[in-house]
Amino acid sequence: MFKRHLIFVVSVLIVLCFHTVQCTHLKGTFRSRDFFKFLVKFGFQKTDRHQKEATHGYIFGNITSRHGFQQPITFAVLDRALFLDYYQNRRIYNKKDACKHMFTRINASAFDPVCNPHGNDYLRRIPCPKNELCKDEDNPNNVVKGHQFTYVIQDLQQPSFWYLSMVACYYNQTSCEWHHYEPRTGYYDIDYDIWLVNGSPNISTFSSLTYQFSFDRQNTLEMYLLFWLCYMILVPLQLHAVRIQKHPVTRLFTASLLLDFIALFFILIHTLKFSLDGIGYPNLAMAGDIFDILSRTSFMLLLLLLAKGWAVTRLELTWKPLVFAIWLCYGIVHVLLYVWNLTEVDIIEDIDEYQTWPGWLIIVFRSLIMVWFL
Ligand SMILES: *[C@@H]1O[C@H](CO)[C@@H](O)[C@H](O)[C@H]1NC(C)=O
Ligand SMILES: *[C@@H]1O[C@H](CO)[C@@H](O)[C@H](O)[C@H]1NC(C)=O
Ligand SMILES: *[C@@H]1O[C@H](CO)[C@@H](O)[C@H](O)[C@H]1NC(C)=O
Ligand SMILES: *[C@@H]1O[C@H](CO)[C@@H](O)[C@H](O)[C@H]1NC(C)=O
Repeated sequence: MFKRHLIFVVSVLIVLCFHTVQCTHLKGTFRSRDFFKFLVKFGFQKTDRHQKEATHGYIFGNITSRHGFQQPITFAVLDRALFLDYYQNRRIYNKKDACKHMFTRINASAFDPVCNPHGNDYLRRIPCPKNELCKDEDNPNNVVKGHQFTYVIQDLQQPSFWYLSMVACYYNQTSCEWHHYEPRTGYYDIDYDIWLVNGSPNISTFSSLTYQFSFDRQNTLEMYLLFWLCYMILVPLQLHAVRIQKHPVTRLFTASLLLDFIALFFILIHTLKFSLDGIGYPNLAMAGDIFDILSRTSFMLLLLLLAKGWAVTRLELTWKPLVFAIWLCYGIVHVLLYVWNLTEVDIIEDIDEYQTWPGWLIIVFRSLIMVWFL
């Protein structure tokens, strides 16, 4: 038992170290030692033909720097098709070549007042001058008040993912070519403060359930609320039952239920706050995930013990080491899957947890346990 606790504590620590924040209100700094910085992937909803303003996606914010720049560098908002090449080529060791290759496809379609006046609006030259609009914003009416730039995302066919990033490359408008920015002074940093929302910031009060959320997370708040209400009824009932009926099975089940209740509560708090400010409490959400894993593994222990007849036909446990060994492996694989998901899955891969090898492992594991039950 003690070993198991130790393993969980260690895993929790590992998870906390690799912590990545997912939010729609981004604040941070791009430093000169990062050549490239990926900011976020966000799903924008399908635009409704009849209420365009209310259903467009908006990206707006400020990007400024305390340092002077000889050449502005680049902030890119790209759809998946354009992002793939751009993202792959960032790894090229020679950064001069990297800039050229990253922008080969984008160069043909991105707007530039001199080189490509009929292109689309993907790029901004950053940093923007303090207390002014960014250089690429030609019409101040299109910019959300109190911010320096605004993108409006419209897709009449389907919801789509967009990828935000910054890269130390600049465009030479004389030669229409991309170059790596290497400042003479050496060091710089750029501060950003960016919002990504679904629906116009002007009328955000009408849709607070969807406004801050990426398309794939919209309306999860209602779901969590509904589950939480169910638990509010079930948990007190179960607690009452466990007081009357002092049976080990009931106790274990209650423990599992309580853990899940705590998990749900944490996630709900995070989601509620997120719907208001686009940040939420990322640490609380992660704690919720961990409680959820604990709940599932304790439920698995209950199933294993029941299947071996413990507390049903006899209170004495045979095969003890085997059952606990299997359970321990199951718990470890579960934690592994969670950490893997946080750290190893590349942002451009559109996959869920069961398409990675720990995901496969857990399915195989469950099937094996099932076979063992028969
Ligand atoms: C963003 O820039 C505008 C000026 O264009 C300024 O009024 C506003 O306070 C800035 N907002 C933040 C959060 O820095
Ligand atoms: C918000 O509303 C104001 C006034 O109604 C309008 O001028 C501005 O263009 C709107 N902004 C956006 C981003 O739609
Ligand atoms: C841009 O290209 C022109 C022509 O190739 C060159 O003369 C100029 O120095 C370049 N400017 C920068 C900032 O690289
Ligand atoms: C980038 O696009 C412009 C306009 O389409 C073109 O004139 C220029 O040659 C392109 N540059 C490169 C490096 O392909």
